[in-house]
Amino acid sequence: EGVEGSIVTFSAGIDEMLGGGVALGKVTEFCGAPGLGKTQICIQLAVDVSIPEPLGGVGGEAVYIDTEGSFVVERVAEIATAAVHHLNTVDHDHTCDDQVRQAARDVSLEKVLASIHLFRCHDYLELLATVNILSEFITSHPQVRLVVIDSIAAHFRHGFSDMSKRNRLLGIISQSLIQLATSHRLAVVLTNQTTTRVVRGQKNSARVVPALGESWGHASTVRVVLSRYDNERQATLVKSPTHKTTTAPFVITADGIRD
Ligand code: GTP
Repeated sequence: EGVEGSIVTFSAGIDEMLGGGVALGKVTEFCGAPGLGKTQICIQLAVDVSIPEPLGGVGGEAVYIDTEGSFVVERVAEIATAAVHHLNTVDHDHTCDDQVRQAARDVSLEKVLASIHLFRCHDYLELLATVNILSEFITSHPQVRLVVIDSIAAHFRHGFSDMSKRNRLLGIISQSLIQLATSHRLAVVLTNQTTTRVVRGQKNSARVVPALGESWGHASTVRVVLSRYDNERQATLVKSPTHKTTTAPFVITADGIRD
């Protein structure tokens, strides 16, 4: 089963690690402790999915499911403005053909922002209901190439005394998302909070523990763990059907995700 295109992150290192970017047709999970950049990567992807095909993008739209209120419109506009500026200036390259030049000129902030469909889910019932209508929504919005859920864990971490019910609901969500990714040839991107446990006195003993535990283990095809050592941010590919485990450093700037 070949990868049919991917969505760039604007970090060449992360893109290379993933084999060109976040793959269409697959479920990719970004894990990490709070503040490590999961949301920033999701916003960057929601902007970058709209990069037109002549400019090397997938020319699509995004569904963005925000469960924690972290989709801050001002921040999205900031990242989108930088991306638009970057793409508009492709025009200055005189080796480009007309189609590329035209596509570069046509990119605008308004178009990028209009291509993101935002859903806000305040509890797990709203999340289930939203996942339930996604297939219908995407059928009527066939340009959608990315579905983000930031975060999948939030509404399942606390207040679930009935663990078998929780696991059953997570199973339903994960099946729907895998189905969605393959049948509509789109990328599903999830964030999942983790805690890192370090065994004292032991070198390289850091173990990342995902919030949703073992029942969630098979939900995603690709898993990337975000971490931070000293002041350097790192993304590590820990699960992939096609690529080996590697680490890429990245930065978060005012413009978004970069190398
Ligand atoms: P939780 O949502 O708390 O789980 O964290 P997260 O992993 O989603 O983190 P998020 O993506 O919110 O990243 C927060 C980090 O992004 C912060 O440490 C900031 O350094 C960085 N960041 C956020 N906004 C900006 C910005 O406008 N400019 C710059 N330079 N960095 C930013």
